[in-house]
Amino acid sequence: MKNILVTGGAGFIGSAFVRQMVLRHPDLNFIVLDLLTYAGNLKNLLPVSDEANYRFVQGDIASRENCASVMKEHDIDTVVNFAAESHVHRRILEPDAFIRTNTLGVNVLLDEACRAGIGRFLQVSTDEVYGDIAPGTFSVEEDPYLPNSPYSASKAGAELLVRAWQVTHDLDTVITRGSNTFGPYQYPEKLMPFFITEAIDGRALPLYGDGRQQRDWLHVDDHASAVACVLFHGESGQVYNIAGEHQARNLDITRRILELLDKPESLVRHVPDREGHDRRYAMRCERLKALGWQREHSFEEAAAATVRWYQENEWWWRSIKAGDWQDWYERQYAARLAAADG
Ligand code: NAD
Ligand code: TYD
Repeated sequence: MKNILVTGGAGFIGSAFVRQMVLRHPDLNFIVLDLLTYAGNLKNLLPVSDEANYRFVQGDIASRENCASVMKEHDIDTVVNFAAESHVHRRILEPDAFIRTNTLGVNVLLDEACRAGIGRFLQVSTDEVYGDIAPGTFSVEEDPYLPNSPYSASKAGAELLVRAWQVTHDLDTVITRGSNTFGPYQYPEKLMPFFITEAIDGRALPLYGDGRQQRDWLHVDDHASAVACVLFHGESGQVYNIAGEHQARNLDITRRILELLDKPESLVRHVPDREGHDRRYAMRCERLKALGWQREHSFEEAAAATVRWYQENEWWWRSIKAGDWQDWYERQYAARLAAADG
């Protein structure tokens, strides 16, 4: 393993992985291939932009030319695929874009990786492929796929393609399934960065339905270190859950954000629920722990640090919110907030 292609490396989790790996592994080269969609941001990679073992290439995983040329030019031997259309609301508003990247794009990337004769291919997936699970239960890797949203279906489809390439073409693959991830540099559409930045400005926080939906919350640096652990030590053909082992209801996360910012609970608006909204995700990750991985962050400490990061880095998110973000906000929330009940 010498030249690692990190696709989607300018996004939230991919950039955390690159920032971590470039500094920890000066002996390895990290080449980011990213289309720079609305969610990709080169500012996320500024901390490593001058490092000798980092390169950036703008390109599309769904383009054979882009994949083949980056693999040839940089003599790629390993692929870690973070590239995805990942934001649920856009998935519902613009479904074709995420099928194109999350499933068709993975097909192209696998095929070109195989042609280039690479060693290992790591596919970054999600706990959403398990679908909604009952209270008190936890998903394990052997559980069936039961995706409920077009996004999770597109990610499950990608996983099946990865499996097929392992069996049919003898490609060395591993898959990770991470839970809801939070931390610095997250596009302010996801619950935590959206609510933190809206609350800083004293704006209404649109909580879907009763807010009692439950998620497992994982700090982005722990997600990145788990992906690295699976890349280096994972068994070929295996799937690994990555959990933060902190389950919380959206309402509790929202209240904690408000407490940390010293803002009133009156900012919360219960808006009509999202279509096909899963109530609960939770996982066990014993298989990953058996590889030696441990979480470094507790939820409490990491949530406080994350709130502080958005308070101290307005330069990063205000420029995003001043752009196309505003149109998306209007389309997504204007009618919902008008129909809010509190
Ligand atoms: P993100 O939206 O922040 O980043 C995705 C990146 O992929 C962006 O930089 C974007 O420009 C790039 N991209 C999109 N389409 C592309 C294409 N066709 N070719 C090349 N690059 C493209 O997403 P994220 O939150 O960092 O998620 C990264 C991965 O982790 C995704 O595969 C996602 O499914 C998975 N995941 C995310 C979470 C979470 O809570 N955010 C949880 C579990 C798994
Ligand atoms: P999100 O961070 O978008 O991740 P995902 O949909 O992939 O789980 O949402 C986390 C939870 O927060 C989810 O149950 C939806 C809820 N949520 C709201 O209630 N209101 C919002 O405005 C957002 C963005 C999310």
